[in-house]
Amino acid sequence: MRARIILDVDTGIDDSLALLYLLASPDAEIAGIAATAGNVPADRVAANNLAWLDVCGAPAIEVALGAPEPLAIPLRTTEDTHGPQGIGYAELPESRRPLSDRSAARMWVELARAHPGELIGLCTGPLTNLALALRIEPELPTLLRRLVVMGGAFNHPGNTTPTNEWNVHVDPEAAKEVFDAFSSAPADRRPIICALDITETIEMFPEHLRRLAERAGCPPDRPVSAHDPDGLRSTSPNPVVRHIDDAVRFYFEFHRHHDQGYLAHMHDPFAAAVAIDPALAVLRPATVDVELTGTLTRATTVADWAGMWGRQPNADIVIGTDPVVFFDRLITRVGDFARAVHPPARQEVS
Ligand code: BDR
Ligand code: CA
Repeated sequence: MRARIILDVDTGIDDSLALLYLLASPDAEIAGIAATAGNVPADRVAANNLAWLDVCGAPAIEVALGAPEPLAIPLRTTEDTHGPQGIGYAELPESRRPLSDRSAARMWVELARAHPGELIGLCTGPLTNLALALRIEPELPTLLRRLVVMGGAFNHPGNTTPTNEWNVHVDPEAAKEVFDAFSSAPADRRPIICALDITETIEMFPEHLRRLAERAGCPPDRPVSAHDPDGLRSTSPNPVVRHIDDAVRFYFEFHRHHDQGYLAHMHDPFAAAVAIDPALAVLRPATVDVELTGTLTRATTVADWAGMWGRQPNADIVIGTDPVVFFDRLITRVGDFARAVHPPARQEVS
């Protein structure tokens, strides 16, 4: 059975790879894309999604604009991490595809109501629009087949404050509303949480980009290298490969500037892979809540692994995976897709 997915993103370099992973997966279908404010403002997120759909020659897929601000606090964006437009050094032609005329929250609700028990929600940005959707339709936890979330940090340091993961940091009130809402979900509908504990083990290196380009039929004459100075651009004749290289190069440089090496954490495409195939992940149930009042720890996710709060588990947290299997899938799927969309004989620079 094909996984039918509502994708909720703040595109974003790694969100872009998550979108490409889904588009490239024959066992997945995107029912709609919610553009959530986070890495960049929501209208930029929407424009990035539409532009990727063009580059990929995708059919018409609904892209719905999300709320411009988090539920209770001003929006914080992170162009230093994801580039001025949110996609690193990639410069995608602006799309003329139309935006949906319904909001992201409305799209969540109406798609879930139209296909009860069928759709998988995949959130790789702040949870603002899902929280707004839950206010409209509190039955979403049972209307969805499954929810997969990239967010939080449990037995692991944060990437935004000492204890905060970015997506939860941007809208902690929304994250709490979502976790609270799923407290009533049956065990087989508990959200799967891909937190930093696991997603920071999903390390992409230049070698992965080289293999992807080869798989796409365009081995690079100047592959991305850890020895490159900042700011080089891809000359690949395949537009999908070229834009991926330019986006991920920026992410490599960001991680290097933060003393993590010339690599990039592929948080969001990992969550996409888990949404299609949960068998990729080892899961452990826990009760998850979000600290909203701590002076040092606001927006920290806390997991009660041992039932000390006396509350039922409301999440299945990913505690293990095989990054090699994930990268093999990413390279095979996206490489083959890039080749199919832009076959080697017909490649042109655009
Ligand atoms: C998350 O933060 C964002 O910057 C990434 O796109 C990812 O979703 C990781 O903390
Ligand atoms: Ca993201």
